[in-house]
Amino acid sequence: MSAWPGIIEAYRERIPVPDGARVVTLGEGNTPLLPAPHLSEVTGAEVYLKVEGANPTGSFKDRGMTVAITHALASGLKAVICASTGNTSASAAAYAARAGLTCAVLVPQGKIALGKLAQAVLHGARILQVDGNFDDCLELARKTAGDYPVTLVNSVNPVRIAGQKTAAFEICDVLGKAPDVHCLPVGNAGNITAYWAGYSEYAADGVVPGAPRMFGFQAAGAAPLVHGAPVPDPDTIATAIRIGSPASWAGAVAAKEASDGLFDAITDERILAAYRLLARREGVFVEPASATSVAGLLATAADGRLPKGATVVCTVTGHGLKDPATALEGNVEVEPLAVDPAAVAAALDLR
Ligand code: F0G
Repeated sequence: MSAWPGIIEAYRERIPVPDGARVVTLGEGNTPLLPAPHLSEVTGAEVYLKVEGANPTGSFKDRGMTVAITHALASGLKAVICASTGNTSASAAAYAARAGLTCAVLVPQGKIALGKLAQAVLHGARILQVDGNFDDCLELARKTAGDYPVTLVNSVNPVRIAGQKTAAFEICDVLGKAPDVHCLPVGNAGNITAYWAGYSEYAADGVVPGAPRMFGFQAAGAAPLVHGAPVPDPDTIATAIRIGSPASWAGAVAAKEASDGLFDAITDERILAAYRLLARREGVFVEPASATSVAGLLATAADGRLPKGATVVCTVTGHGLKDPATALEGNVEVEPLAVDPAAVAAALDLR
């Protein structure tokens, strides 16, 4: 068996890359499609998790970033820029380092998880904390890239979407069909747009006979697509999707409508409940935003919107280690233990 070459080489005929370009890859893609027995039992569906935290920088962003940085390098410009709630910046920083490009990231001050900031720092990105939210950062990044010689690598760059659609290809390749339903957390809406592009492409080419219904879930405090209007001051514990004005709004709506899908809003309480359930019952540690897809699955199963026996894939978008603070909240033992097996046994209620 030869090594996995990354998504560009694996799906070369489906991803546009400039002739003769040096492909910048960290071996992204080929992530687990993991059966979820507990979720299957409670929902009456056949549930799988697409574990995108297994990508090189710990999120699905790497699929788009290998393509965006490959194009940026080929363009001859020496710098890339992005706005980010954290994962895009971590990914851009890593791929830019690999390519030898300068990377600037614009992040909302104090609102990105610690692990993501650590990644951008160590990969040598120029980190600019902005006194504003993600939407302000994106506007600033777009304007800067419009006026100066620097490539914008947010998902408004269409080559990012071309890379991210490979997750849908992988799911179909493994299942031998498209799932009936696909559940995703939605923030800036690039990923739901990309998955729908991937599923539609495979269906149009006859690789698989159909495409899933796309279920997109937003945090209740940041749910512009659910309300049908931008949210000026978005707020949620799931900082990755704390976005009030998604750039790929039209793509998300098209995916929902064409697939007979739905959008729904999920409270932080339910997001955190799904976050803990994934860790404790399925053994999968994700960041809070990622649990939104599973919280949405549980909500639709509970009120009858999820067809019984359906094959369902939930993408869990980012690794739990990105956000250790949320995991530790209220869960750490403070009292130190005596160096004594009897003390350990007592602490564990062993007899
Ligand atoms: N899950 C995680 C872990 C994310 O980081 C993001 C987006 C999403 C879901 C939503 O995906 O934006 O394509 O709808 N993070 C971006 C970032 C905004 O800057 O890292 P989307």
